[in-house]
Amino acid sequence: MTTLGVNIDHIANVRQARKTVEPDPVQFAFLAELGGADSITVHLREDRRHIQDRDVFLLKETIKTKLNLEMAATEEMLEVAKKIIPDYVTLVPEKREEVTTEGGLDVKSNVKYLKNFVKNLKESNIEVSAFIDPIGDQINYSREIGFEIIELHTGKYAEVTGYEQHKEFQRILESAYEANDLGLVVNAGHGLNYHNVEKIASINNMNELNIGHSIVARALAVGLEKSVREMKSLIKSN
Ligand code: PXP
Repeated sequence: MTTLGVNIDHIANVRQARKTVEPDPVQFAFLAELGGADSITVHLREDRRHIQDRDVFLLKETIKTKLNLEMAATEEMLEVAKKIIPDYVTLVPEKREEVTTEGGLDVKSNVKYLKNFVKNLKESNIEVSAFIDPIGDQINYSREIGFEIIELHTGKYAEVTGYEQHKEFQRILESAYEANDLGLVVNAGHGLNYHNVEKIASINNMNELNIGHSIVARALAVGLEKSVREMKSLIKSN
C-alpha cells in the first residue's frame, strides 16, 4: 500500500511571514497525523526561510508516525541530523534563490562525497533517501552510493499536460520498476495534487508519496469559511 508523507513547510512559511509563533508546524503535524498522514516531512533549509531548528527537534519528540528530514548534503546539516536522528533523511539539492526544490539531486556527479555522507548518516541509524530525477543513471548511482530509498521527482509530470504528461508518467513508471529491481525503496513527490496523484499512486510498489503545497492549499480552502465565521461571531457578540 502506498503511504502519504505530508510536507508541512508551508505552515512554517505562514508563521515566518510575521516571525511569530503561529501557526505552529508542530501542532499541524499532529493534525496531519489525525487525518492519516503516515509520515511528516520538513525541509530545514540553509537560510531557515520556513522550518526552524526548534521545529525539527520538537517534531522528533512529538510525532507518532515518522519524521522525514529533507536537507542539503552539507556538513552543517549532517551535524543537525546526527543530533535529531530522524527516521529518515531525504537529500535534496538546494539553491538559495529558488522558490522550491527545482531539480533532483545530481548523485552521479558527487559519488565519492555522497558515499561518505550517506555512510555517516547510516552509522547513526538514519535511513537515507535521494531525491532524484527519473533517469536510469541517477538510479544506478543512487544504489552504488548506498541510498536505501529514492524519491522520484514528479515536478515535470505535474507541470505538463496531455501526451507530454503521458510520456513523463512512463518515465516515472519505468524508473520505479528499475529501482525496485535494484532493491531500492521507491517514493515520489513534488507538484502532486488532487487531480494528478492517482496515476502515480497506482504504480506497483510505490512506497510513499510526499505532498505539501496542494494539501496546505486545500486546508485553507476547507478551513477559511469556518475561521471567518468564528471571528464574525466574536465581533457580533460585542
Ligand atoms: N519532495 C521533495 C523532495 C520536495 O522538496 C518537496 C517540496 O518541498 C516535496 C516533495 C513536496 O512538493 P509539493 O509541495 O509540491 O507537494
